[in-house]
Amino acid sequence: MKVLAATPENIRFAGEALRRGELVGLPTETVYGIAAVATNRAAVLATFELKRRPAENPLIVHVNSLEQIYELVESLPAEAAVLARAFWPGPLTIVMQKSSSVPNEVTAGLSTVAVRYPSHPVAQSIIGAADAPLSAPSANRFMGLSPTRAEHVDPSILAGLACLVDGGPCAVGVESTVVDCAGDGVAVLRPGGISAEQIQSVIGTLRDRQSEERRSPGQYRRHYSPRTPVRLVPRLDCDDDGIAIGESLGSNQISLPEDPAGYAAALYAALHDLDELGLDLISVQAPPKTPEWSAVWDRLDKMLG
Ligand code: TXA
Ligand code: MG
Repeated sequence: MKVLAATPENIRFAGEALRRGELVGLPTETVYGIAAVATNRAAVLATFELKRRPAENPLIVHVNSLEQIYELVESLPAEAAVLARAFWPGPLTIVMQKSSSVPNEVTAGLSTVAVRYPSHPVAQSIIGAADAPLSAPSANRFMGLSPTRAEHVDPSILAGLACLVDGGPCAVGVESTVVDCAGDGVAVLRPGGISAEQIQSVIGTLRDRQSEERRSPGQYRRHYSPRTPVRLVPRLDCDDDGIAIGESLGSNQISLPEDPAGYAAALYAALHDLDELGLDLISVQAPPKTPEWSAVWDRLDKMLG
């Protein structure tokens, strides 16, 4: 069995596999990831191969203490220190100038590295058992839906892992917010688990995201998609298959919570389940166009292509 319960013994096993250069599926509070020891070039390359991910799309390095970031970055920018104090451990990824100890394979040749300190206790324990920072992209094939349950990790991904540690359903359900602290000021490169408003509350003014988009590789127009085509609708009709908000009417309809955090936590799992039904079309009831929904809207827009 490759899917292991998060017992101390299995976490030790996962740590040993990582130290041997193998890949391990790990739970985080956002989505499940494919972990490798970030300084092991061969293991990092195997991650790209397993995901069928283009080499120009950099990986996030995961740490389990603030001290661990000092070996990864040239220096800690003041804004990064403020953000780390406010939101770590948690669903925030900070891009900074990298040190020479981070292989170019991890950063896709960029001079910057993205670092995250996850709050999931099992992720923290696995980093501890490996005794090293871990690179970890989401545990899906390139362009696909990120898994938020161990049972949603595709068998083709599972086949390339030494094991997958089951940490239960991911509480946040969308990927981390990526912020750029590598230049002047702070910009949100990918909306996610921490809102732009939360970041603004500790940083003040943010640089405009639009003008920054070119600087975050891996932000493809189509991404995070189920296999089934998706369309947005104001409301689901009784015979529409898909995702409603607050209430469900028909048989292949899943109702998600009306609050943005509850909705985000359940979205990928609902799409995964609908995808398994082999439908022609998944209709998604459009959520409100307000700032609290921006991470959800970012993902929905990318499913529409
Ligand atoms: O929540 C998450 O962040 C999850 C869990 C597993 O931690 N990970 C995740 O990784 O979403 P991934 O590989 O699916 O997305 C990483 C994205 C890249 O596509 C890119 O947009 C951004 O992070 N990124 C990584 N390194 C970067 C860098 N040096 N500069 C700018 N953006 C970077
Ligand atoms: Mg991903």
